[in-house]
Amino acid sequence: MKKPLYVTKSFLPPLNEYTELLKDIWKSGVLTNDGKYLKLFEKKLRKNSGCKYALCVSNGTLALQLALRSLKINGEVITTPFSFIATASSIIWEHCKPVFADIEPDTFNIDPFKIQRKISSKTKAIMAVHVYGNPCNISEIQKIANEYNLKVIYDASHALGINYKNKSLFYFGDISTTSFHATKIINTAEGGALFTNNNNIANEIRLKRNFGYENYVIRSLGVNAKMSELNAALGIAEMKYLSVNLTKRKKVFLLYKKLLLSNEFIKYQKFNAEQNYSYFPVLFSTKSLKEKVVNKLNKEHIFPREYFSPSLELVFGSKITCPVTYDISQRILCLPLSFHITVSQVKRVCNIVNKVSGV
Ligand SMILES: Cc1ncc(COP(=O)(O)O)c(C=O)c1O
Repeated sequence: MKKPLYVTKSFLPPLNEYTELLKDIWKSGVLTNDGKYLKLFEKKLRKNSGCKYALCVSNGTLALQLALRSLKINGEVITTPFSFIATASSIIWEHCKPVFADIEPDTFNIDPFKIQRKISSKTKAIMAVHVYGNPCNISEIQKIANEYNLKVIYDASHALGINYKNKSLFYFGDISTTSFHATKIINTAEGGALFTNNNNIANEIRLKRNFGYENYVIRSLGVNAKMSELNAALGIAEMKYLSVNLTKRKKVFLLYKKLLLSNEFIKYQKFNAEQNYSYFPVLFSTKSLKEKVVNKLNKEHIFPREYFSPSLELVFGSKITCPVTYDISQRILCLPLSFHITVSQVKRVCNIVNKVSGV
């Protein structure tokens, strides 16, 4: 029986390079609380992003929650229904209300025109997602935010390594957040970070991720969202391989595109920048074709992900106000893509997709 092929497989650095860092941690006995490796990882992230502040936390979901808390958002937050559950659940967890605005059919990102139509007197913020790392319409979103005095949070969980208008995607909005979950290009097993260029906001985040403590005095309501030294060291060991990782992924991505070229039943996301090739999303012409492809792949022990599905507005309600998302979430499929995937595995996936599609 063939080994199962999952939608992704975690990237890991050579074990000896990680254990060298672990030995140093063992020697110091410092496991967490603003240790040497956290500081070093944050420095690397600042350098990589060009942002003034990069603050690591224990996962990307808490990064979103801390972003809302640090900006003191209470009320309605306009967001996309085409995302991972954490985008919307973080808003609800922070006692705010997600108001869903539909996406653009070609970029899969939140549509600024639809944002405008969902603004009310209670709207306090926009939480947009750079879906699969595709830059949102940042200038239009900022224009709306300026006009209505709203904060902007970008969920940039997929956006490591992507530049837009000569800046890292983490540079935009009041705060950008990311995830270093095991499935991401660079992972710390579990982890995340917030990026900002505002000193006051950075101070708020620092306070709130550490129980609200400042110099052993409680200054604010906080939580424990700290990243440990073990996680930060893993991030450092992986960052060294970022460009190797991106190059390999690009090759795989282009191979997929080539092998699926003749498949007229598949469409692709329109991308607004050079990609980081974290995902290979395909949009099938019909839901039933997608389902047939998934069934056949699963029979062959290949496990793509219907990512993102269902539309988040159906997770938290039953009314469909975002028909574009509803439609796309039924036809979207992310095919396996990772640093480790082989040419023959990609060929096997494409053969099945094409055969089931009848091409
Ligand atoms: C778009 C998006 N937002 C938020 C998250 C949450 O990140 P984490 O899993 O690190 O909590 C993810 C996770 O994978 C994600 O894809």
